[in-house]
Amino acid sequence: MDDLDGVVAEALDVFAAAGDPASLEQGKARYLGKAGRLTEALKSLGKLDPAERREAGARINAAKERIEGALAARRDALLEAEFEARLRGEAVDVTLPGRMRARGSVHPVIRTWRRVEDIFRSIGFAVADGPEIETDWYNFTALNQPENHPARSMHDTFYVEGGLLLRTHTSPMQVRYARTHEPPIKVIAPGRTYRVDSDATHSPMFHQVEGLWIDENISFADLKGVYTDFLRRFFETDQLDVRFRPSFFPFTEPSAEIDMAFSSGPLKGRWLEISGSGQVHPQVIRNFGLDPERHVGFAFGSGLERLTMLRYGVGDLRLFFEGDVRFLEQFA
Ligand code: FA5
Ligand code: MG
Repeated sequence: MDDLDGVVAEALDVFAAAGDPASLEQGKARYLGKAGRLTEALKSLGKLDPAERREAGARINAAKERIEGALAARRDALLEAEFEARLRGEAVDVTLPGRMRARGSVHPVIRTWRRVEDIFRSIGFAVADGPEIETDWYNFTALNQPENHPARSMHDTFYVEGGLLLRTHTSPMQVRYARTHEPPIKVIAPGRTYRVDSDATHSPMFHQVEGLWIDENISFADLKGVYTDFLRRFFETDQLDVRFRPSFFPFTEPSAEIDMAFSSGPLKGRWLEISGSGQVHPQVIRNFGLDPERHVGFAFGSGLERLTMLRYGVGDLRLFFEGDVRFLEQFA
């Protein structure tokens, strides 16, 4: 074995060039493996005479030690580099700002719904809930609108299979509640309603709250008193522009629609209808299973979107259904 220094230098180059543990181990086999260069050199010692053998053996062993030393150093360096890379990959930048979770808020119409419930509960009204898919009888017939009655065309109705329909108003709840409760009946029924209707003040799905107070002496004057008191509390002011405008509903007599003027926003001063109302028609009292000679009272059905529009000065109710957070977060 003549050029041991050359072999050592070559091994050192090969180890230095190995970029990962696997190629380093391949490099090691070339010099220290079973058929490696130094292993071969050691095997050939047997052919030498004893004096030469000792001297050559010492040189080969010295070369082997240098190669082994270089190998161990390179192994350590590669492990160290691998560890550093992992640390870098898993590093957390503690100076980055935290990721905030956006906070939701109650939709303005639902806020109105809750306020309406709170106010009416506080003056002794029960709160009832009923189906959005109704029968023709509850939605129309029981409310004194027989089939082919022209008043039915006032409502553009969504029909569903099986002769059912999406309730066009919360008034069927008057009938459902009155037929299952004894007078005095004092209830509100808020919920979703549906009509084939769409513009700045009409939506195909909207919310109404029905009110019904039946006893032996509940008059139209009570309707005006209760409803005006509700509005004062809902709008948190006594300065209200409200008018009861004579109107027609088949299920009330006399009937009135209730309008209110915007007190703020771009529509300030403009009137908006918020509710239908009236003294419950004798035929409807009979459909409640009661005697109209004895039981009388009022009902109303108000639009929750309309109340919300007036409270916040919103001119177009479609904004309530677009889900635009820039609009909604103003009510948070
Ligand atoms: C009715 O629905 C009657 N059931 C109200 C009633 C109840 C009268 C009890 C007498 C006794 P009207 O169609 O006017 O009436 O609707 C009542 C209110 O619901 C309206 O004043 C309005 O505030 C709201 N409203 C009606 N249609 C829509 C719509 N498409 N989008 C939003 N709000 C609506
Ligand atoms: Mg109306």
